[in-house]
Amino acid sequence: MNPIETRGILYHEPLIFELGAEGRSGASLPKLEVEEADPRDEFDSKQLREKSPDLPEVSEVEVVRHYTRLSQWNHSIDAGFYPLGSCTMKHNPRINEVTCRLPGFADIHPYQDESELQGAMQIIWELERFLCEIGGFARVSLQPAAGAHGELTGLMMIRAHHVKNGNPRKWVLVPDSAHGTNPASVTLNGYKPKQIASGEEGILRPEDVERAMEEVGGDEVAAIMITNPNTLGLFETHIAEIADIMHRYGAMVYMDGANLNALMGYLQPGKHGVDVMHYNLHKTFSTPHGGGGPGSGPVGVVEELVPYLPRPTVEKEEERFVWKFDRPLSIGRVRSFFGNFGVLVRAYTYILEMGAKGLKEATQLAVLNANYVRVRLQGKYTLEYKRPCLHEVVFSDRELKKETGVTTMDIAKRLVDYGVHPPTVYFPLIVQGALMIEPTETETPEEVERFCNIMESIFDEAKENPDVLHSAPHNVGLSRLDEVQAARRPKLRWVAKKDEKKA
Ligand SMILES: Cc1ncc(COP(=O)(O)O)c(C=O)c1O
Repeated sequence: MNPIETRGILYHEPLIFELGAEGRSGASLPKLEVEEADPRDEFDSKQLREKSPDLPEVSEVEVVRHYTRLSQWNHSIDAGFYPLGSCTMKHNPRINEVTCRLPGFADIHPYQDESELQGAMQIIWELERFLCEIGGFARVSLQPAAGAHGELTGLMMIRAHHVKNGNPRKWVLVPDSAHGTNPASVTLNGYKPKQIASGEEGILRPEDVERAMEEVGGDEVAAIMITNPNTLGLFETHIAEIADIMHRYGAMVYMDGANLNALMGYLQPGKHGVDVMHYNLHKTFSTPHGGGGPGSGPVGVVEELVPYLPRPTVEKEEERFVWKFDRPLSIGRVRSFFGNFGVLVRAYTYILEMGAKGLKEATQLAVLNANYVRVRLQGKYTLEYKRPCLHEVVFSDRELKKETGVTTMDIAKRLVDYGVHPPTVYFPLIVQGALMIEPTETETPEEVERFCNIMESIFDEAKENPDVLHSAPHNVGLSRLDEVQAARRPKLRWVAKKDEKKA
């Protein structure tokens, strides 16, 4: 199989500063009707630059073409397959964009009177109920702006609960297969993370949890934070038993539900011992994401933690929706106004469009696609945990590297030549040279098959001609970058060619 042509016309694109010509402009402003002011009359000379900055002087067509061409250098979910593990880069139905741009949603301001915001408040109220039903929780806060922010919020509520009971406690247990944000959120909340190793099957064993509780003194453990499915893409089968252990010590169970496309419609965590869980609306519930936002990471809680929810909440009083600020035990606001409202409208639309049956089918397809990849590729790439996965599958480069010298990084770079975004690499850390593949539910069988064929071709190339992989990518605008230098000595300031010697 040959790498396919993946782009239209690819130019070697200069920087915008290197385009244009002196005096050229993209704007045509009317001639000044008044006398031009001299800045020296207005400002102290020390406040003025000696000469004006070298801004680009370009025509409109140069600007449009420059940025359009640059945008074509990017890979995107709209352009091709994007199996970035743990990120759920799935297709987001365009209907979501239509609804969130309706003027009644897009043009409102949160300071408008409650009476004018009834429609928006209804969406917030109903979305909260949908998420409660999906997760099995008593209430959900829609304020957090991302998954990690949901983690922070959830742990703040757990802390508030323990403080109310007289002891904030010190520790939070975190398995070694947790998402990286989990121990970070623990630390941000003033707790200490205690790592627990997963068992041989890649999941947590209740006996290890019990031992960890005894080691640090169970009464000093605030919670356990379990990513489920974990970062190996595996379901934590013993979660209910583990929850029983935690509850015996008065500790809470936090489940990282960012990857709910593996479970929705099948498991309501809140009904199986989980006390707090965040959802990633910008992944599971279909909002374009990547590049830093905006996102939404609602947190669901069981009845016991409801008093601590961020305020205000939206309540329904007879036929009206009202903001409720009077919540004395609340941890307070965690986000201005009511979170990223546009994302909430998209998620609401998605849930209504899919319905309960559709959400369940999304889970089925996410799990089916990942397992198809697992079974197709397990003869070639090393699978450390040989058991069915949920929404993603993690391979290792261990055997291939030993035989051919080809690493996970080489495979990832070669995939770019085939027009596929590389999977998540070298994470989770517990798998040597991890390749974490999440095809998602929205890919067709043909596309998943094409990806498997590409991975097989790359495997054959590794055996026959590893150098092609070591130097990949070849079929793109820029070849292999020195990522270590880029991270350690980034060049963050542009210097004009003529000034390079002076810099
Ligand atoms: C399992 C898991 N937890 C937490 C997060 C953090 O979410 P966010 O990037 O929205 O902060 C992610 C991100 O995808 C995740 O996969």
